[in-house]
Amino acid sequence: MSQVPFHILRSDMVKTCREMNRIGLNQGTSGNLSHRIPDGFLITPTSLPYERMEPEDIVVMGFDATFEGRHRPSSEWRFHRDILRARPDHNVVLHTHSTYATTLAVHERGIPAFHYMVAVAGGTDIRCSPYACFGTQDLSDLALAALQDRSACLLGHHGLIVLADTFERALWRAVEIETLAKMYVHALAVGEPPRLTETQMAQVIEQMRRMSYGQAPDLDTVTDTPKVRATA
Ligand code: 13P
Repeated sequence: MSQVPFHILRSDMVKTCREMNRIGLNQGTSGNLSHRIPDGFLITPTSLPYERMEPEDIVVMGFDATFEGRHRPSSEWRFHRDILRARPDHNVVLHTHSTYATTLAVHERGIPAFHYMVAVAGGTDIRCSPYACFGTQDLSDLALAALQDRSACLLGHHGLIVLADTFERALWRAVEIETLAKMYVHALAVGEPPRLTETQMAQVIEQMRRMSYGQAPDLDTVTDTPKVRATA
């Protein structure tokens, strides 16, 4: 459980949403963001443009579906609640309509192991859930199933969901997956690319685990790293 005070989390949520739009990962009032707190989560309000959103606009929700705040919670509060409740290994749920991930999702196509970086979502592929209307329990149930043993999934005819420990990691993972989606869409122009095998992907997943790949350097937790040179 994150020990970060609520007011910092609220302010970081606003910054993360604005950053998501600034770097082209999302647009308009699409997308939403949540962060775990004791017995519930903080979540972005529905339909409020991120440039106008202030930390006080963030809604506090319980896992019992009650909320406090001056706005209604995101229309997608159900999948934020259900994912955070079912996946204690993650603190953050980020949802975006990023262009290339959504391009694949409108074809109901996930991202196969055409490139080793697919492992950033924790497995050998990134699934796409079947379509369900936004804001519904059906969408939440389908998203949760597509996220089984994964930290990301595409939502059919809709967008992308990414899970992470922190806002920074959520943005990093979303950018990597959007980039993979872009590469896959381009690769498909030449034909369906060959896939890495289960064995090759298992090696990648193990290598990423050993190297804490993609995480800011933390010499205490990384087991496979060159030795630090002794200074004279
Ligand atoms: P909200 O503004 O209600 O969060 O909805 C945006 C969205 O992307 C719905 O899927």
